[in-house]
Amino acid sequence: MHSYEKVHVDLKDRAYDVLIGRGLVANAGFFVAPLLKSKKRVCVVCDDNVAALHLSALHDGLKASGIEMACLSLPAGESTKSWKYFEQTVEWLLKEKVERNDIIIAFGGGVIGDLVGFAAASLRRGVRFVQIPTSLLAQVDSSVGGKTGINSPSGKNLIGAFHQPSLVLADITLLGTLKERDFLSGYGEVQKYGLLGDEAFFEWLEENGPALAAGDMEKRQYAVKRSVEMKAEIVVRDETEQGDRALLNLGHTFCHVLESATGYSDRLLHGEGVAIGCVLAFELSARLGLCSQEAPSRVREHIKSMGMKCDIKDIAGELPDAETLVDMMAQDKKVLDGQLRFILARGLGESFVTSDVPREAVVRLLKDALAF
Ligand code: GLY
Repeated sequence: MHSYEKVHVDLKDRAYDVLIGRGLVANAGFFVAPLLKSKKRVCVVCDDNVAALHLSALHDGLKASGIEMACLSLPAGESTKSWKYFEQTVEWLLKEKVERNDIIIAFGGGVIGDLVGFAAASLRRGVRFVQIPTSLLAQVDSSVGGKTGINSPSGKNLIGAFHQPSLVLADITLLGTLKERDFLSGYGEVQKYGLLGDEAFFEWLEENGPALAAGDMEKRQYAVKRSVEMKAEIVVRDETEQGDRALLNLGHTFCHVLESATGYSDRLLHGEGVAIGCVLAFELSARLGLCSQEAPSRVREHIKSMGMKCDIKDIAGELPDAETLVDMMAQDKKVLDGQLRFILARGLGESFVTSDVPREAVVRLLKDALAF
């Protein structure tokens, strides 16, 4: 049995559906079959953790509709998003004789989704692919919107392409196998959607976040669906980030510098950095007189109530000083014409993009946060 809700990403000739629900992997063949042309065969790329937990369910779900699969399993972790594994993936797909009419399946979290999406974008100048995201972060963010790519020794996500998937299957039953810390890291992106554009959703999360984290499936489904709806709406407005799509980076200017300062290690997971970054973005907005003092307090309280890191001081170990952190920010790829770009807010659910932030205000904010 399967049950799901659908969010349509209305990108005209690149439009697709995101299905959010249960039993989607167990019935994967039913959803993928309409995309197949001549061959009843797909190539699946996953990581070793996902393979151990969920690959046989996907195999059976495809087989039930008569679809054969070949699979490549890669090491789990951010270092897989590299030239080395990109080459391995593309060469494997060629060896499997993947042609332009075929379908590739990215089965995993953000690393696999980004890498396989980029391989699909590059192979034979573009092959269709299906995202089956297995982490909360991938379900609410990276599997939707067509950003694909790998990291370079010069920085994260510097090599890539926009390549929209043909279908996304967000099976919320897969979230049950995530470690609590990984689930909560994904939640950092969920709460971001409320803060950036939907105060009512943020209020819903204040009330329902703890139950959702504890495993309530209906609440999980609602949170994923609302997040995907918001992301889809922004992506349709601005697919290639010429303007509004940058709103999705609320909290990310701070997050990226903190991730870099902690060496992209276990000291700080991406979604944890987003949550801390959201608190800082609201604090900065309040200091600049853009929103009330109450707003950053509410953001911090909610994140704290979820048992997540909410302040820089919650990150274990040493960090560079405030001036150095701001210098590092200036090297981020989100910088335009040498201007630091921030997503600030006029209130909960009312964010906007600006380059008009005095460097001194950011230095002072970080000095206080580090001294706290
Ligand atoms: N994760 C931000 C975006 O997709 O634009």
